Amino acid sequence: MAHRWTNRLTARDVTPEALWLGRRAVLGGLAGLGLVGAGGARADTPEPNAWEDITRYNNYYEFGTDKGDPARHAGRLTTSPWSVRIDGLVDRPGDYDFAAIMAKMTIEERIYRFRCVEAWSMVVPWNGFELADLLDMAGVQAGARYVAFETVLRPEEMPGVRYPVLDWPYVEGLRLDEALHPLTIMATGIYGRDIPNQNGAPLRLVCPWKYGFKSIKSVVRITLTEAEPPTSWNKANPREYGFYSNVNPEVDHPRWSQATERRIGGGIFARREPTLIFNGYADEVAALYAGMDLKTNY
Ligand code: MTE
Repeated sequence: MAHRWTNRLTARDVTPEALWLGRRAVLGGLAGLGLVGAGGARADTPEPNAWEDITRYNNYYEFGTDKGDPARHAGRLTTSPWSVRIDGLVDRPGDYDFAAIMAKMTIEERIYRFRCVEAWSMVVPWNGFELADLLDMAGVQAGARYVAFETVLRPEEMPGVRYPVLDWPYVEGLRLDEALHPLTIMATGIYGRDIPNQNGAPLRLVCPWKYGFKSIKSVVRITLTEAEPPTSWNKANPREYGFYSNVNPEVDHPRWSQATERRIGGGIFARREPTLIFNGYADEVAALYAGMDLKTNY
């Protein structure tokens, strides 16, 4: 295995954002060769995108459908106190206080590729913890096969939910083995800062081999289920968005090709690059889909 993430990095290892930005210049000539990550661990990814690219160009439809709407309106969201209800097929169902969760978790930094379905991509240094560690707190029962996630729904703080562009609340799902995979994290920060509201504060899912819309934001409920749970984009448009949504250059979206992508922040002349199967994480995750037809399970 090329690299398997372990919990070796802690909050103390996080590189300050200013250094991250400085590193862009330092390592500009080394793009594509891979970076030396915080704490000396090798992060097999290109250089990360700038803060402005990540925090002012968002999809968070509860605050509006324009890419700038989340940055404009998400400041209204109250993110403290916060709790996550974990229920369904678990030994210890209940409301888990976010501050108490954070006190128990090892926060580490991970530089992940992030790929959106409309063919833009970026590289983001997240801070977070493995979802598996959170599920362990609740104790997953033997009958569980899927994990369902739900975003907070607060019409008084979320101007976009007046419009029925999606069926609110926003919901997502993973198969249990995907959820327990060490690459799957709950992100709580970015560039070593708390995650901005528009990016899904105080905690959002990051599953780096899947398209961005699987990264459900501001999670308030996690339910372990036996049956495959519904997902917001699949409900809205089942022909275009499937349950799995793995990054796959060979499975085109009905309205555009997925074969190439363009990096945000690269300027309008940025070269299109070939999209990598499983977003470049095939060594780690391809085995999850052995024997599955990824054209029908899109
Ligand atoms: N989560 C909620 N609750 N609402 C949303 O509209 N949009 C999704 C996903 N999570 C969305 C969401 C989509 S389409 C994408 S591409 C990513 O969030 C964008 O994450 P980012 O803004 O941090 O880049």
